[in-house]
Amino acid sequence: MPEGCRCAGIAGLGIYVPERVLTNQDLEKMVDTSDAWIRERTGIRERRIAAPEEATSDLAAAAARAALADAGITAGEVDLIIVATATPDTLFPATACLVQEKLGADRAGAFDLLAGCSGFIYALACGAQFIAGGAADTVLVVGAETLSRIVNWEDRNTCVLFGDGAGAAVLRPAPREKGILATLLGSDGSGGTLLQLPAGGSRLPASQRTVQENLHYIQMNGREIFKFAVRVMGDAALEVVRKAGLSPEQIDLFIPHQANIRIIDAAARRLGVPMEKVVVNVDRYGNTSAASVPLALADARDAGRLCRGANIVMVAFGAGLTWAAAAVRW
Ligand SMILES: CC(C)(COP(=O)(O)OP(=O)(O)OC[C@H]1O[C@@H](n2cnc3c(N)ncnc32)[C@H](O)[C@@H]1OP(=O)(O)O)[C@@H](O)C(=O)NCCC(=O)NCCS
Repeated sequence: MPEGCRCAGIAGLGIYVPERVLTNQDLEKMVDTSDAWIRERTGIRERRIAAPEEATSDLAAAAARAALADAGITAGEVDLIIVATATPDTLFPATACLVQEKLGADRAGAFDLLAGCSGFIYALACGAQFIAGGAADTVLVVGAETLSRIVNWEDRNTCVLFGDGAGAAVLRPAPREKGILATLLGSDGSGGTLLQLPAGGSRLPASQRTVQENLHYIQMNGREIFKFAVRVMGDAALEVVRKAGLSPEQIDLFIPHQANIRIIDAAARRLGVPMEKVVVNVDRYGNTSAASVPLALADARDAGRLCRGANIVMVAFGAGLTWAAAAVRW
């Protein structure tokens, strides 16, 4: 953060994952795939699937409650709620407003943010700016997805990759030596069609035809996304480390978006960070899009890996195309 601005820090973390576990063996019975193929190509062993009555706002609110409890803050103290999601309960109202109501956060403004799998870091950067500028003291940032609702369960190219979940962080003013040191946001709309949900918006409203042609499901060019991800994850992480005034050797923990273990490996190599400093939970949750980084952050906390003063670098890529990174001192 520039001199003279208030720094924002993460005062609490919370997650929620649905109970139901879908394993690779379960998927073998649904599509022409194998546990060996999925593990070798992605590192995923299982993922969570929301119950029929659960929607994104339910997952988001559960994670948010846990984050508020962790921070020792009541819902009434929250000034702003930002929910990063590509799977909102409805196109409108915003899922953030539904979360506001569920929490009883009666003083909070609320809006959704759409940046695909980069969404949580985008929301973190956004919330940090509200605190830096003095417009808010307490911001609740949530990444939440029910991707199982927009996955074509007959398409083996995509259905093995994704899972449901939510993670939340409470942002509050922090001393300069502790908090969000630097953020970086990027986008390249020319790659938008590489990863998209074609129907249901103003370009192609939902109709019988769009449903018959499966245009209400995720469509992805996996190979191109893979190449893009390997390039931007490393570049964005290096750039945010530089912006924070750090060198790669000073990184204590690297928290990449959990899409694919091969992409994570490549990004860590590019950054020059050994795998023992990398947080990996893609095996248990698959790609949970905007929930992926906070789920990994909370896993690191629960494993005792978030030591006071540790330099943490988070980085993600996603639909848009987008990418984002943040350097945080714990
Ligand atoms: C999707 C991904 C795992 C595929 O791995 P890959 O090594 O690139 O595999 P390829 O696309 O080369 O496909 C290899 C073969 O496996 C097949 N295949 C695809 N999915 C399969 C599955 N679930 N089970 C078995 N075979 C599968 C393909 O049909 C292809 O067969 P073909 O050669 O006969 O056409 C990989 O490209 C990837 O992770 N991309 C990034 C996706 C991503 O992160 N998306 C989210 C962005 S936020």
